[in-house]
Amino acid sequence: MFTVIRADQAQAEAKADARAQMADIFADGFTQWLGYFSKDRSIIAQAFAHMFVLDQFYLAMSDGQVAAMAACTDGKATSVRLDARLLRKHLGLLKGSLAAFFLKKEFEGLLDNPDGDACSIEFVGTALPFRGQGAASHLLGHIVRHTSYRTYLIEEVADTNTPAMKLYQKLGFQEYKRKALPEKLARKNGIHHLVSLKYVK
Ligand SMILES: CC(C)(COP(=O)(O)OP(=O)(O)OC[C@H]1O[C@@H](n2cnc3c(N)ncnc32)[C@H](O)[C@@H]1OP(=O)(O)O)[C@@H](O)C(=O)NCCC(=O)NCCS
Repeated sequence: MFTVIRADQAQAEAKADARAQMADIFADGFTQWLGYFSKDRSIIAQAFAHMFVLDQFYLAMSDGQVAAMAACTDGKATSVRLDARLLRKHLGLLKGSLAAFFLKKEFEGLLDNPDGDACSIEFVGTALPFRGQGAASHLLGHIVRHTSYRTYLIEEVADTNTPAMKLYQKLGFQEYKRKALPEKLARKNGIHHLVSLKYVK
């Protein structure tokens, strides 16, 4: 049902703009964490569409539609690159500037991978109409099978994100690190720990 391609090769296969579809997936999956900047998923989609570094992303396609996406990056490049000017254009001067400053640190952290044998899986998301149909499982399974890394890392998954935690555990990822959030923040957003997982081939 799904075929997997790299996002920089998707244009020919995607019926609509692949980047725009990735932005929609990002907005549907991640607006809940970005509420300070905008609660409007279409504004989030427009503001962040520019950031995807396409050759770092894989897409699960179904009939020309992007069903799911995930980046796999080995530390030579970041999977996203934020442009402060575009963030300010869509989020306004203050929130755009804050997004550029704070999210840069969070989104553009480079994997420390001196041996080159690890890859960081990032920005995993499935389009709403395709959720629960195996798209993300298929995509991540493909990435693990068709790339030659030894270790696959997924950093800082919210412990409350049951679909993501179950997905990763089902694929054989195991927790290797757990970071407690400050009590005040945990009370506010319900997330107590950020869990890091890894899969070793
Ligand atoms: C997490 C996410 C990528 C899962 O994508 P998906 O394509 O729906 O996942 P799959 O259909 O491949 O499901 C695989 C497994 O995940 C678990 N799962 C998926 N959706 C679930 C849900 N709503 N509730 C509980 N478990 C769920 C199940 O164990 C499922 O296996 P099963 O079908 O054999 O029970 C999707 O829910 C999403 O985009 N969430 C928002 C973005 C996000 O949180 N990304 C992860 C950031 S770390």
